[in-house]
Amino acid sequence: MDFKVTPARIEDARITVPGDKSVSHRALLLGGIAKGHTQVTGFLAGEDCLATRAAMRALGVRIDQTGATEMSIEGNGPDGLRAAAEPLDLGNSGTAMRLMAGLLCGQSFASTLTGDASLNRRPMGRIVKPLTMMGAAIESECDGTPPLQITGGLRLHGISYEMPIASAQVKSAILLAGLYADGTTSVVEPAITRDHTERMLRSMGAEVSTEGARISLRGGQALRGCTVQVPADLSSAAFVMLAALLARDADVLITNVGINPTRTGVIDVLQAMGGRISLENEAMLGAEPVADLRVRSSRLQGGEVDPALVSLAIDEFPVLFVAAAAAEGTTVFSGIGELRVKESDRIAAMATGMRALGIRVDESPDGAVVHGGRFSGGTVDSFDDHRVAMSLAVAGTVADDEVMVRNVDSVATSFPGFSACMASLGGKIEVVEGDSGE
Ligand code: S3P
Repeated sequence: MDFKVTPARIEDARITVPGDKSVSHRALLLGGIAKGHTQVTGFLAGEDCLATRAAMRALGVRIDQTGATEMSIEGNGPDGLRAAAEPLDLGNSGTAMRLMAGLLCGQSFASTLTGDASLNRRPMGRIVKPLTMMGAAIESECDGTPPLQITGGLRLHGISYEMPIASAQVKSAILLAGLYADGTTSVVEPAITRDHTERMLRSMGAEVSTEGARISLRGGQALRGCTVQVPADLSSAAFVMLAALLARDADVLITNVGINPTRTGVIDVLQAMGGRISLENEAMLGAEPVADLRVRSSRLQGGEVDPALVSLAIDEFPVLFVAAAAAEGTTVFSGIGELRVKESDRIAAMATGMRALGIRVDESPDGAVVHGGRFSGGTVDSFDDHRVAMSLAVAGTVADDEVMVRNVDSVATSFPGFSACMASLGGKIEVVEGDSGE
């Protein structure tokens, strides 16, 4: 499928976006090994989370869909998972694979984890190394990519691990394995990363300590099922924020969005660029803070993006690149090398797409300089990356001419209903059958 984007006027609106992907994955994983019932509301029924759901079902957990965004999970307790009959296919989801690996290496049985072409190119050495230090046995391809063969049945022991890269996925994999390890497991982060795992573990009765950059838990703690209310995903809201900021005269309210401080870097960067974004109705939704985001059209100004915000905005750089392209002056991004090992090489994918739309982008191994300008019309590729597809589609709403974004099927991994959501704002993003000659 492709997006055919026609320049459009974004209008005032009050909208919602789907549930948070990170929180939805964790509800399934932790709910599955908790004792008792976990009821999830606001669940993201996107392909990534559905892959995690299928995997947990294959491991013997009963999960019933009780509404469009409601899941009922009957937890099997810490030792209640059973071997899956087939390899677990985690589709496009790095979160699913890395967290699952952490969970499964402490089980009594063997497991195999695999994924689609993109996931099977992504680095897994970053989890294999610490999990092996804990006593696990995991085999990957020789270049450290999936499939992963997890031996199981081995005794794990706690470690203290200084993570070389800031990654919530790595941290979470180690903490999940730590639940099954003897003694205490602790992880030291080089920069703050999203803490949804820690919050949900605490909601389920586990003691997890956070002292500065060190997060620790004792092995053998049992979790209790609970209610998980999933906030709207700030990473999905970011596309709507971008459309509203770039529009001529829009005032958009996005309701009930997760504003966990480990995720809000995108708001900080856009505000520093002159974006008029304010938080209204701040509240707690279970363990996670939420707010309504009010976003008004703004004149954006380029500048240097604070590298300290990178791990707090890690998924929003495609959006920030488009904001930078539409801003006055140049914007300098540094310390963003991790973007090269996401669902695509996001620095290269965005640079290629924006250049095709007339924007000058200079790339370096871990950075980019984006020169503000105007988007022309043109044809761009998503590189099968959902966030690249949606960012370029939003660029198309303010382009001088029609923009075709090729290969956008991956949008269903995180934001089912994206084009309908944009249509409710006046955005003209049509889903069209791909050109088979391509
Ligand atoms: C995620 C962590 C991030 C992020 C991903 C979701 C998570 O990855 O990019 O989309 O749910 O833990 P890293 O922590 O590896 O940067």
